[in-house]
Amino acid sequence: MKGIFVGTKPSYKVIIGRDAITQVGSLIKRAAPEVEKVLIVSDSTVAALYLEKLKKSLTVSKLETSEYVFEAGEQSKNIDSISGMWGVMAEAGFTRTDAVVTLGGGVATDMGGFAAATFLRGIKVFHVPTSLLAMVDAAVGGKTGIDLKEGKNLAGAFWQPSMVIEDTALLESLPPELFTEGMGEVLKHAFIMDTELFALLKDIAESGKAADLQKDPELLEKLVSMNVSDKVEVITDDTLDNGRRQTLNFGHTVGHVIERNSNFSLAHGVCVAKGMGIIIDASVACGRLDAEEGEKMKDLIKAFGLPVTDDITPEEAVSGAMNDKKKRGGTISVIVVTKIGTSEIVKMTPEEYQEFLQKGRTA
Ligand SMILES: NC(=O)c1ccc[n+]([C@@H]2O[C@H](COP(=O)([O-])OP(=O)(O)OC[C@H]3O[C@@H](n4cnc5c(N)ncnc54)[C@H](O)[C@@H]3O)[C@@H](O)[C@H]2O)c1
Ligand SMILES: [Zn+2]
Repeated sequence: MKGIFVGTKPSYKVIIGRDAITQVGSLIKRAAPEVEKVLIVSDSTVAALYLEKLKKSLTVSKLETSEYVFEAGEQSKNIDSISGMWGVMAEAGFTRTDAVVTLGGGVATDMGGFAAATFLRGIKVFHVPTSLLAMVDAAVGGKTGIDLKEGKNLAGAFWQPSMVIEDTALLESLPPELFTEGMGEVLKHAFIMDTELFALLKDIAESGKAADLQKDPELLEKLVSMNVSDKVEVITDDTLDNGRRQTLNFGHTVGHVIERNSNFSLAHGVCVAKGMGIIIDASVACGRLDAEEGEKMKDLIKAFGLPVTDDITPEEAVSGAMNDKKKRGGTISVIVVTKIGTSEIVKMTPEEYQEFLQKGRTA
């Protein structure tokens, strides 16, 4: 098992390894001996697969468990679920030294984190992410929250977990299309900052191991660790607020618009892949990225079963971006990969952004 230190305030560790789920109880007891009761927050699908296993590990370590299991899916990410979690904890007599343990994808970690951030003005949360997206992205970084009917992720809090425990063997049961979707963020990390990860992914693709990756917990341990380290490096570096966290938005400015225009029928990771492909084309057309590097990146995206194009027009992309919360003032921060492993934040006016995208389209 690997441990990655996250130097945020407060700091915590991400533990990554096969069968880590069996050690959750002892890891919690070691990190926070005062915890007596835990609320397990999980969704119906994941709970059916792994709740008993997790519970066993907690009860062996003498932790008293309660559960809140919500119906799997983004539609549950709302205030009613949070209210349900508060209710279970209040009824079970939780005190400030008790904790939440999430078991699931990004919906479980976002909601369980938010319930922990708000119950008794803040109790500890431990994440046990079970989707690739949650392992490499959602469970690390301390962003928690819920959706409102007016939009996604509109209410929430920054609340760092006390530990994140990632068992790569759990990924075997993830539906393959969700695994592929998670690869969108993995590819993103390689492109914006990690040539070593890029080389590993290229090797996986070229040796024909991409199709079996999901069933290879050992290789996944390596892959997930590299991605967690990347995300951790960016988020801890950004305590100086130099904006580096924004580079994690590579492919997202266009991707979010595609996602919204599809009424969320297209998966996030798929839209991010499309967005990355579009930005790569525009960057090459504008001379910001070498054509050969651009091709290598797009080939890798495709090798993992993700698309690199979309028929969104530059006009739609620009107007969508102007409505997006990620915009800063009158300019749009466009993340451009200038060579594999290196990225820049380029501020563009809406007109410049439209021209940039147009060039990529007509090239
Ligand atoms: N906080 C952050 O920084 C951050 C970052 C990225 C995404 N997110 C949030 O994460 C959510 C998306 O995450 P997600 O894709 O994990 O969604 P999810 O939690 O809905 O999980 C996707 C589906 O996979 C199933 N599943 C998860 N693990 C499984 C496993 N091991 N075996 C079988 N089925 C499994 C779930 O039951 C669910 O149906 C969104 O709400 C998004 O806003 C948050
Ligand atoms: Zn994303």
